[in-house]
Amino acid sequence: MKNIKLFNMNIFITDDYEQMSQKGAEVITDIIKQKERPILGLATGGTPVGMYKELIRMNKENKVDFSTTTTFNLDEYYPIDKENNQSYYYFMKENLFDHININIENTNIPNGMAVDIEEESKLYEQKVREIGGVDIQVLGIGSNGHIGFNEPGDVFEPETHKVSLDKQTIADNARFFSSIEEVPTEALTMGIGTIMSAKKILLLASGKNKSEIIKKMLLGKVTPHIPASILQFHPDVTIVIDQDAASELLK
Ligand code: F6R
Repeated sequence: MKNIKLFNMNIFITDDYEQMSQKGAEVITDIIKQKERPILGLATGGTPVGMYKELIRMNKENKVDFSTTTTFNLDEYYPIDKENNQSYYYFMKENLFDHININIENTNIPNGMAVDIEEESKLYEQKVREIGGVDIQVLGIGSNGHIGFNEPGDVFEPETHKVSLDKQTIADNARFFSSIEEVPTEALTMGIGTIMSAKKILLLASGKNKSEIIKKMLLGKVTPHIPASILQFHPDVTIVIDQDAASELLK
């Protein structure tokens, strides 16, 4: 594993996906051990699945305790029912919550069936703020540079809001559905301000298809056209990527 420091960013380049998952889990458990009541910001998608497996293993071996942990997920499709097996609520239960000693009442995911979206968004923001903010926010990155579902655009949206998913995101996520027509076209997502207010950020990426965007996000200019580029302005960012995702950066 290589370690590079770039401004405020501590970058770990791992040999492969497994090592990325292990390193990610280590960064999270370090925070959990330091805090009496840890607040985690979590992501879905293919990238963090291995890290969640590692956290489950560590929890089963009594190496990490989630009993006092609260979580806030970045996003949820809209509209979607919790019980739908494509919902992010379902994903989190399947891939993490059902297998660790967390109190499910301390887990938060935007409500994909909210009738009043503005109210739901305001409540989500308020909940994050009232608890004192997120200690560590896990992020993946879209091949178009999105974080959460903050898609490329002309402005950085500060707070939780509803978005129309980018064509690229719909195409990328089609691999989780039986056809592209089934991919939801809208979602609720934490805003860029919500994400930036986390005390620490942990961004994971794996695979060659992320290598161009990783380079742009780290070395390009900060612009809402590459939402992840805003992380250049966050004071405490750890980036854990495998060699494939780092391949353009290292050229
Ligand atoms: C998921 C999320 C997204 C994903 C991104 C990468 O909650 O917020 O930003 O992190 O789309 O997805 P994968 O990991 O499937 O490549």
